[in-house]
Amino acid sequence: MKTRITELFGIEHPVVQGGMHYVGFAEMAAAVSNAGGLGIITGLTQKTPKDLANEIARCKDMTDKPIGVNLTFLPGFADPDYPGYIEAIIAHDVGIVETAGRSPEQYMPMLKDAGIKVIHKCTSVRHSLKAQNIGCDAVSVDGFECGGHPGEDDIPNMILLPRAAEELDIPFVASGGIGNAQQLVAALALGADGINMGTRFIATKEAPVHQNVKDALVAASELDTTLIMRPLRNTERVLKNDAVTRIQEKEKELGDNIQINDIMDEVAGVYPKIMSDGDMDSGAWSCGMVAGLIHDIPSCDELVGNMVRDAEEIIRSRLQNFAA
Ligand SMILES: Cc1cc2nc3c(=O)[nH]c(=O)nc-3n(C[C@H](O)[C@H](O)[C@H](O)COP(=O)(O)O)c2cc1C
Repeated sequence: MKTRITELFGIEHPVVQGGMHYVGFAEMAAAVSNAGGLGIITGLTQKTPKDLANEIARCKDMTDKPIGVNLTFLPGFADPDYPGYIEAIIAHDVGIVETAGRSPEQYMPMLKDAGIKVIHKCTSVRHSLKAQNIGCDAVSVDGFECGGHPGEDDIPNMILLPRAAEELDIPFVASGGIGNAQQLVAALALGADGINMGTRFIATKEAPVHQNVKDALVAASELDTTLIMRPLRNTERVLKNDAVTRIQEKEKELGDNIQINDIMDEVAGVYPKIMSDGDMDSGAWSCGMVAGLIHDIPSCDELVGNMVRDAEEIIRSRLQNFAA
């Protein structure tokens, strides 16, 4: 399948694996890239730029296909060494960066001078246009269904994607809620040049997470995610669990007076406990509604290969028949 996204990134299939904290290690990115998609290492999961450099080197030992690095620009109070991470990306010859969170504007000259292609992930048409205006090569348009941070507008992809298609000139991938071939076809029909998946890639053989996490995704239905941190304007879609219940009780009790410190135990530093140790109730972790469509744990090669093959089949047979 050829689209503007496969051309831009030099990949076989228009399927991107979005950065995921404590999931996007070298093994995950290499498996997706080897399957013909674009695998992405999560920059900030690596504690220092030097750790990121090592992780990139490990990934490059596992694949000779294009890979990317995710740089999530966190809310104001956090201050990672972003220039240091970008230097590590440049030094290790990674040609693609997925930015997310705040606007990457400040770092665009550094990234573009090094010839890096930038895909910015955002949750609204206005932020997509801003990304286009500051020189991003593509955007990842993340709908309300998505695992992680859907923003505060609550526009689902059925509306958001065609709205993005109306306004954007640069290519975009559809992100959020996607996990099967029908949805890949739908995303293309709605104007996207490909897809970005997070949650679906966690339930794969190669995902370097505890088996409990994969089992939780297979067991979950589309009703099992919920939103937290809305009063803090840092809304996150997570899988329901005991920690999330505690957060939501505090949100109810404290209303608009809630501070991040009130829920620190449930949200800070919990990813290693969940993703590595499989301690599933130890904190809140991002998870998309697509959990309801996850029924198996294939290899990345099976997942991406089957999705693309089945999508082509849907286009050639089912859709072609409607046009006849
Ligand atoms: C466990 C998990 C961790 C995530 N961590 C990050 C992150 O650190 N940075 C980021 O930009 N996006 C992160 N995301 C969002 C994904 O990159 C992607 O945009 C999202 O998962 C797409 O929605 P889907 O899960 O419905 O496919 C995370 C998602 C999940 C499920």
